[in-house]
Amino acid sequence: MKLLVTGASGFIGSYLTKMLVEKGYSVKTLVRFDSDVTQLKNLDVEIISGDIRDADTLEKIMKGCQQVYHGAAQRTKPKIPKQAYYSINVDGCKNIAETALKTNVERLVYLSTAGVYGTLKQLRINENTVPRPNTYYRTTKWLGEKVLLSYHQQQNLPVVIARLSGVCGAGSLSWLGLVRAITTPKFRLIGTGNNEYHLADIMDIIAGLRLCAEKSNIEGKTYNLAGKEALKVKEIVNLITENLNIYEPTQQLPAFPYHTLNTMTEWFYQTFSKQLPGHHRYDMFISDRSLDISRAVAELDYSPKISPEEAIINLINWYREKGYV
Ligand SMILES: NC(=O)c1ccc[n+]([C@@H]2O[C@H](COP(=O)([O-])OP(=O)(O)OC[C@H]3O[C@@H](n4cnc5c(N)ncnc54)[C@H](OP(=O)(O)O)[C@@H]3O)[C@@H](O)[C@H]2O)c1
Repeated sequence: MKLLVTGASGFIGSYLTKMLVEKGYSVKTLVRFDSDVTQLKNLDVEIISGDIRDADTLEKIMKGCQQVYHGAAQRTKPKIPKQAYYSINVDGCKNIAETALKTNVERLVYLSTAGVYGTLKQLRINENTVPRPNTYYRTTKWLGEKVLLSYHQQQNLPVVIARLSGVCGAGSLSWLGLVRAITTPKFRLIGTGNNEYHLADIMDIIAGLRLCAEKSNIEGKTYNLAGKEALKVKEIVNLITENLNIYEPTQQLPAFPYHTLNTMTEWFYQTFSKQLPGHHRYDMFISDRSLDISRAVAELDYSPKISPEEAIINLINWYREKGYV
């Protein structure tokens, strides 16, 4: 069977591609002209340069593929214009959907994010929770889902949506800002840290994605994919300090100014469709983000194996090896 992975040069895409090759699939990868393909070079894969915004190239690339994993996206980064999030994450999904229909793809798996739920104070968020995305990235990932689901409803696009929680693993730089902040004496826990955050190890996530591609009769469905269990934020911070052999932060900052700031930021975003900088820096400390993964467990046989503790240790070890901390 021939598969296509978009975003294969990225963190999740490169692990996914390697696993699919090891499972014996014939894999095509879509990367950008200037993507760093170091992780793909030693794999037996076809590397094709293109852009998901270019529908013509997509058709040539997708032809002959039975399954497509769509991971290419503009993630939150500084100085990225709003328009780039919309063109890559929303128009890109439209291109992927139309090309998948034209080329008779049998299953399209969309790598979405639990970030679509927004900054919630809610435990065990399930797939019926109404998304309240509050950044360009989160909004456009949700709009991407809506585009794909409308193609499913109107033209039977065989899409399955996976909403991933924060993913940990060697190769991920998403956690580096927090980990580095924790190493400085100025670091303070915002609030009590008794709120929850649900991370996942990369190996569990790619296993879950494969199930989204393989299980029959789940087209049009959405699944939360996360790790075995959520941890309290203070437990995550303590695990990081323990593994870096530094002292646990003993001082806390009151959470209420950050809640107020968040309310104002969200009001500004919803009113003017404009994102203020820095929102992500404290999001984890003022929300509860534990996901209910029971639908994925029941319908996909999803069974995350790696504890959050182990996932964090693996991540810190890699940061240390690379000299990042
Ligand atoms: N990492 C997480 O914790 C997490 C959590 C939830 C959901 N997700 C979702 O999982 C997917 C992969 O995330 P990641 O962490 O692996 O992100 P990543 O490392 O930033 O990878 C994104 C990939 O998309 C590619 N890309 C961006 N714009 C493109 C375009 N216009 N045309 C073609 N390719 C393009 C990038 O290419 P370059 O290499 O050239 O930049 C890269 O390969 C994303 O859809 C993301 O929304 C990730």
